[in-house]
Amino acid sequence: MNQVTITYEGDEISCDPDKTILDNLLDQQKSVTHSCKKGSCLTCVMKTSHEVDPKSTAPLKPTMVEQGYFLSCQQKPQSGMVLSAPESNDLFIKAQIKSVEYLMGHVFRVYLRPLEDFNYRAGQFLNIKGPEGEVRSYSIASIPADDLIELHVTEHKHGIVSRWLCNVERTGAEIEISGANGDCFYMPGKPEQAMLLIGTSTGLAPLLGIIRDAIDNGHHGKIVLYHGAVRDSGLYMRRTLSKLAEETANLTICYGTLEHSDDNDNAVGNIQDIALSKNPNLKDWRVFLCGDPEMVKKTKTKAYLADAALSDILADPFELRTTL
Ligand SMILES: Cc1cc2nc3c(=O)[nH]c(=O)nc-3n(C[C@H](O)[C@H](O)[C@H](O)COP(=O)(O)OP(=O)(O)OC[C@H]3O[C@@H](n4cnc5c(N)ncnc54)[C@H](O)[C@@H]3O)c2cc1C
Ligand code: FES
Repeated sequence: MNQVTITYEGDEISCDPDKTILDNLLDQQKSVTHSCKKGSCLTCVMKTSHEVDPKSTAPLKPTMVEQGYFLSCQQKPQSGMVLSAPESNDLFIKAQIKSVEYLMGHVFRVYLRPLEDFNYRAGQFLNIKGPEGEVRSYSIASIPADDLIELHVTEHKHGIVSRWLCNVERTGAEIEISGANGDCFYMPGKPEQAMLLIGTSTGLAPLLGIIRDAIDNGHHGKIVLYHGAVRDSGLYMRRTLSKLAEETANLTICYGTLEHSDDNDNAVGNIQDIALSKNPNLKDWRVFLCGDPEMVKKTKTKAYLADAALSDILADPFELRTTL
């Protein structure tokens, strides 16, 4: 097979041109920060002055692209490419963990205070550097007017960063966070447009920020939130959501679980099927989909087939680290 040679951090590396740069480097035991390998988390950025595939820069901010950043999981190697690892100062700022609070099921709420300038749109996500430098993404549940950044984190049984972050003893610790990323947020304009928001588990976090932002921007079209989980214990913050719905005439909230519960009258089934059966025609609607990647992928297609314009479907799949 024809190999191509690239230079990474000064080392010449012979690469399989059919694999991504990230996979080539991982195959050769190079330590490269990454998580999803699907272009969602933006943790695998590196720098080059070589021309790259637009797909590998599309999700990045223009300021990062100008500095030569691209996603190594979305780029195949080209002969003669010279690459360097990202500079931590370009990507991360310090933040303090103000509190870690157990909510329900496996979900914790983490409040952060950035110690440097941090600008964001409600619904975007930030990346957090874990104990050994692993980087993972978390969506922002707060709105910029809030004093602190609010995150909802599912604690994964064997998860490196989520278990580290959900430790209440970490309150007061300094951590490193990236700037805010992603385009799943509320754009002011068309305040009369109907909005459908579907989230599974902590997919609620960005949707909560988006709803609060829309309300603050005077959105008066109907807003319908569907929150789904496997079982009741995944439907956290119901009291907060009920209060918000009581205060907001145009907001309706519906819940669904895969498992039936005697304690609650949630609809039973996939939350996306429940939502789309009640709202079969999405012409002129704005649709937000966050959480389980399978749900996001399938519902994007279904929303499009239900007549939502592609430009009105905004999504954040919570891709987990992949070892494939
Ligand atoms: C854009 C985006 C937004 C996101 N927003 C959020 C959010 O708001 N809230 C949230 O909670 N998450 C969110 N995520 C997911 C988050 O980034 C992390 O992927 C998640 O917290 C898991 O990271 P971890 O380091 O704890 O797990 P990892 O160490 O990365 O492990 C990944 C998975 O593998 C399993 N695993 C690991 N080791 C083993 C083992 N030895 N045996 C069996 N299983 C194993 C873990 O249990 C976990 O399920 C988001 C992801 C993306 C891409
Ligand atoms: S975007 Fe490349 S690993 Fe997630």
